[in-house]
Amino acid sequence: MASEAASSGPGEPAPSLQAAVRPALLLSCALFLLCLWARGRPRRPRRSPPGPFAWPLLGNVLQLGRLPHLTFCELARRYGDVFQLRLGRRAVVVLNGEAAIRQALVRQGGHFAGRPDFPSFRLVSGGRSVAFGPYSAQWRAQRRLAHLCLRAFSTADGRSRRTFEQHVVAEARELTRVLARRGEGGAYFDPCPLFTVANANVICALCFGQRYGHEDSEFRALLGRNDRFGQTVGAGSLVDVLPWLQAFPNPVRRVFRDFQALNRELHDFVKAKVAQHRRTYDPRLTRDISDAVLGRIEQAEGLSREHVDGTLTDIFGAGQDTTSTALCWVLLLLLKHPHLQRRLRAELDSVVGRARLPTAEDRRCLPYLEAFIYETLRFSSFVPVTIPHATTADVVLRGFCIPKDTVVFVNQWSVNHDRSKWKDPHLFDPARFLDAEHKLDRDLACGVMIFSLGQRRCIGDQLAKLQLFLFTAILLHQCTFEANPAERLTMDCVHGLALKPMPFTVSVKMRDLELLASLFASLESQLPAIFSF
Ligand code: HEM
Repeated sequence: MASEAASSGPGEPAPSLQAAVRPALLLSCALFLLCLWARGRPRRPRRSPPGPFAWPLLGNVLQLGRLPHLTFCELARRYGDVFQLRLGRRAVVVLNGEAAIRQALVRQGGHFAGRPDFPSFRLVSGGRSVAFGPYSAQWRAQRRLAHLCLRAFSTADGRSRRTFEQHVVAEARELTRVLARRGEGGAYFDPCPLFTVANANVICALCFGQRYGHEDSEFRALLGRNDRFGQTVGAGSLVDVLPWLQAFPNPVRRVFRDFQALNRELHDFVKAKVAQHRRTYDPRLTRDISDAVLGRIEQAEGLSREHVDGTLTDIFGAGQDTTSTALCWVLLLLLKHPHLQRRLRAELDSVVGRARLPTAEDRRCLPYLEAFIYETLRFSSFVPVTIPHATTADVVLRGFCIPKDTVVFVNQWSVNHDRSKWKDPHLFDPARFLDAEHKLDRDLACGVMIFSLGQRRCIGDQLAKLQLFLFTAILLHQCTFEANPAERLTMDCVHGLALKPMPFTVSVKMRDLELLASLFASLESQLPAIFSF
């Protein structure tokens, strides 16, 4: 044994120090040389995400199809949850499934919070958009301000919640009146344009202290251009990835020119309102979100007067169309499932009764209605892919190297229709959100991904959920909706940033017109016009 050999016996020569350390020296030299070799060796390029073959010039554009989120789900089955496409010359990484999306947008949030440098994005809100602006300290300050002011007039506390609720109830009253008028004599009509005006009016009241009549053709025309906005900035849009299409007349160039015009128009509408507010601004009285932003803009780091218009155009633009699209899906699914409509009405009648209207306070006691709304958001997944993101640095995700400024698509649809997360995701079943005691399973409800995650998560999520609940509850409490037997109700939709149901018509019967008139008359006297911030 080494220890015995080393301890020399009497009469034997002692081993030299040199001999003792030689093996250790040799080992150290070998390790040193190995390190040098490893450092000097040319590095293997790190792996890019896998993906389908991309054709020159077009890349994978022709593969996207009419509903890109479904194509992405199919490609994810072949290449995994993180894969790469090429749209024109741009590399696009597509994220699918909750785990990959959460890992990118939450755990590596800052690295995935950019927006692509698309020409169309620079046209939104006069180039000072929160939603389409690049990730920077200035953007963070603007987003914080927008979020703060929006919450102060909607869901920040009991007081703002009550005032917000009164705005929604006032709009629901007007909407119910218009629905009653349009439905007279059992007529069938398209309800969605009315939902758009009603929801836009709520945001208009919060932002500018003003609402418009359902018959106002200018306001309706302004809102009617929403679809073309979504078609330009949605995941399937070609406007930004094939810039050479701007060189000659074609449908894509027409869409882009429309987009320029409609952004100018919306921005001018908001600019005029803000200018009016500037003229009458009184720091002692904050009438609405415009006043709140005007009063705080100078204190926000890196922001100037010019950011007021951009911030308000964003809030108004993002808030007016999304919630009404959700309400159209709610109605379509009520028509498709008349037995669920009856069940919801029975729940409302037993909890709220017929002597008053449903309120936000009732929300906790109406689990089936809440479950129905969450199931509508999950099933329709009507914002299937978020606004495109971009990486803000070179980043590694799941072992794949993604360079800075890569476009990233976040496929929310894949989360809401994931078979490992939801039983029979293709079936519409609100009961999946109820626990054994028939209460709303809040953890499961939070698993629906429609407002995105992380630093770019929607800032209107709480407001939108409350507004959707109140509109749905009041409409169901007051009206009965029937499908047009001459039409086939389809889940097919018009695709843009948001999926919109194909136009459908409905007949509406009022359950109790006199009751409605007296309830709304008493509410009218309670609505405060001014709210102090
Ligand atoms: C049901 C209704 C709504 C849905 C489903 C929805 C969904 C979304 C989604 C998916 C995004 C993109 C997030 C991302 O890119 O990762 C977004 C962003 C945004 N939303 Fe909403 N939204 C709704 C209502 C609203 C409302 C009512 C407002 C304001 C009044 C609003 C304001 C915004 C803003 C300002 C952004 C940009 C956030 C950022 O880029 O940092 N949204 N929303």
